[in-house]
Amino acid sequence: MFDIPTPALIVDLDAMEENIQQMARYFASRKAKLRPHAKTHKSPFLAWKQLAAGAIGITCAKLSEAEVFVQAGIQDVLLANQVTHPKKIRHLAGLARHSRIIVACDSQANAKDLAEASRAAGASLNVLIEVDVGLGRSGVRTIPDVVQLARYIQSLPSLSFKGIMGYEGHCVFIKDYAARKAEGEKANARLVAVRDALIQAGIPVEIVSAGGTGTYNIAGDFPGITEVQAGSYLFMDARYLELGLGFKPALTVLATVVGRPEPHLAIVDAGKKALTEEFGLPQATLPGAELVRLSEEHGILKLAPEAQGLKVNDQVQLIPSHGCTTINLHDRYYGLRGGRLEITWPVAARGRFS
Ligand SMILES: Cc1ncc(COP(=O)(O)O)c(C=O)c1O
Repeated sequence: MFDIPTPALIVDLDAMEENIQQMARYFASRKAKLRPHAKTHKSPFLAWKQLAAGAIGITCAKLSEAEVFVQAGIQDVLLANQVTHPKKIRHLAGLARHSRIIVACDSQANAKDLAEASRAAGASLNVLIEVDVGLGRSGVRTIPDVVQLARYIQSLPSLSFKGIMGYEGHCVFIKDYAARKAEGEKANARLVAVRDALIQAGIPVEIVSAGGTGTYNIAGDFPGITEVQAGSYLFMDARYLELGLGFKPALTVLATVVGRPEPHLAIVDAGKKALTEEFGLPQATLPGAELVRLSEEHGILKLAPEAQGLKVNDQVQLIPSHGCTTINLHDRYYGLRGGRLEITWPVAARGRFS
């Protein structure tokens, strides 16, 4: 029983630290390096731990999110997304005066706007071209278009062309490892073929960035990939735990039983405002307890006989099915070690999705 108001976001510090070390050990002997995606934890406190363990910088999803990490003094930030609105581009150029910022770009119009804002701010923006490697989201679609865009970026004095990124998000959750490896390598090969075409065109490519948690060791071992953007490995959520990657579950939402209306049902105080369910329902850690439904403020647990001793005011822990979006619902983390509260810290970039 923890003396923590629920619902609360709980981190098992030992498990999280082991995950950081496990990932660091993998990259220590590789050419590719880790640039963890901070959209998972949204916390400079945790980003500094990843950097201390050898990460070369961080990845962010959004401008306002990146600002939190720049404010915290982090010096190497990849914004792995397009920033297109003129006001946001001005803001981005301003941030580039405080940290080394690398931004993803996939069109000439955007490159032109980035260059103008960068020049006006007296800043220097580093640019990666985003390449679609099969996800079907953002990114330039063809090699000739990448080469043309790279040449254009090189012609703009206030931009510095750094390389390419291609996130194989369509591969990261493939359950069978052999199939995940085959698809992941196909995507990585598409990206490295783009690099080769750029080099052949006389354009130097410093960064080739790819990978998520499900493919960290596929992209990390693929010749030519220089950086991996994995984020979820830090905590592991229920969806990623299914892949058996060897990282430990380190994140739960602590909830309190507020009702026992029937012997086989318990009602807890964590609902959709505390847990997301786009990747399926969270999983209770209590043997015999299964979360079967979330409403706004309530979770409904179905109890097998072995779990029916559960009483009102008992606490249960729920493993989020998707850590990144669940964390974004909470103001702070409660860090526990050996079952005792050790430290709390804010989800500093909570709600920073613009
Ligand atoms: C661009 C990008 N890179 C990397 C990731 C990897 O994240 P994860 O470690 O959660 O798989 C994501 C996840 O959505 C992403 O969108």
